[in-house]
Amino acid sequence: MTKPWSLALGFISFFLLSLGASGFTRPAPGRIMITRHNKSESHPQQVHISAVGADGMRISWITDDKHVPSIVEYGKAPGKYDMSATGEHTSYRYFFYASGKIHHVKIGPLEPDTVYYYRCGGVGDEHSFKTPPATLPVEFAIIGDLGQTEWTASTLGHVGKTNYDMLLLPGDLSYADTNQPLWDSFGRFVEPYASKRPWMVTEGNHEIETFPILHSHPFDAYNARWRMQYEESGSTSNLYYSFDVAGAIHVIMLGSYTDFDSKSDQYKWLVKDLAKVDRGQTPWLIVLLHAPWYNTNTAHQGEGEAMRKAMESPLYNARVDVIFVGHVHAYERFTRVYDNKANSCGPVHITIGDGGNREGLARDFDENHKSVSLSLLREASFGHGRLKVVNRTHAHWSWHRNDDSDSTVADEVWLDSLNASEACKTDPSLGYSGTPVVDEL
Ligand SMILES: [Fe+2]
Repeated sequence: MTKPWSLALGFISFFLLSLGASGFTRPAPGRIMITRHNKSESHPQQVHISAVGADGMRISWITDDKHVPSIVEYGKAPGKYDMSATGEHTSYRYFFYASGKIHHVKIGPLEPDTVYYYRCGGVGDEHSFKTPPATLPVEFAIIGDLGQTEWTASTLGHVGKTNYDMLLLPGDLSYADTNQPLWDSFGRFVEPYASKRPWMVTEGNHEIETFPILHSHPFDAYNARWRMQYEESGSTSNLYYSFDVAGAIHVIMLGSYTDFDSKSDQYKWLVKDLAKVDRGQTPWLIVLLHAPWYNTNTAHQGEGEAMRKAMESPLYNARVDVIFVGHVHAYERFTRVYDNKANSCGPVHITIGDGGNREGLARDFDENHKSVSLSLLREASFGHGRLKVVNRTHAHWSWHRNDDSDSTVADEVWLDSLNASEACKTDPSLGYSGTPVVDEL
């Protein structure tokens, strides 16, 4: 399905995008690792899974052969598939590129914290995954700006050695950048990890993939390949959605590159979604988005500011605990903050855009930046984060730097749920557009 024109178009767009991407010089990136498909056209490839509802899982994969049925067989013992489900399929075109058959099959209800074995299309390899637990503790792996380089392989290798429950990705997945075969390569690259644990993603700028005159519609590859559970949270777009984990954590995935002003569908959906969260039942509230609202790196300065101005107030008033972002290829952790000031009732902001992308690290931090006093730790190294929500009041965050072949804990902190703070209790009469409680540190 790879046409010469498709590849040529991809490399031209690589060049154009790299010219306009940013105003600073990045160090040499890691080498891109192309992952090829060496099996038959009917053999399922690029298998990945994502959580759906309280007890379901969506199994997604691709076949070059359009006749392979969208069926998943599964069970709790290897090779013994006593359950099956049939799903849907889609495909897309991008200039001369035509995707394979992209299958999405919802399976369940599934038992929590249980290993299931499964096979796609009635012919594929056996895979297995573990469902998240029904109660705390639960552990997230969090990686932004992943790509498919040697650094990505190092990051995923470290993540794969831990028994995490779910992976959260705040945007920039494949860095295909219109070169569509790189999406296929990326799907094969991450399959050993993404077929074993649910990967919950939101989009970054590298997922937009519009091209002047030739392809004006954004996010076509991303939406077709990485379908998330947006309908279940009342969203009308795959670009923003939410879900609950372990009956105690509400995770909101926002879109930095779709409308977010107060008249937008995303904003209206967010306000409704926040209003539905019962913090008595769900003490933790976590948000992911791509372009940071707080950032002292010289890269991508100000790019998240319009979204911050539009959405910071409702998130603050809802007492969001932590906001994970990507885009800047470095690590940075801020204190609790609201409206550019330290605020003990505001969310912690963490930039985790250091997964391993092809563009290299963003090494330059601005010592004179207006937010520098809010920034507690910053470092330009590749790595990943882990958030272990231990109980209803405490969670442990750690950042794991890739030190050659080792993974080193380079930052760690205990977080207290804002729901447990008497000083930060919300006044229900204020709703989510009420006057913010300003309680500076
Ligand atoms: Fe980005």
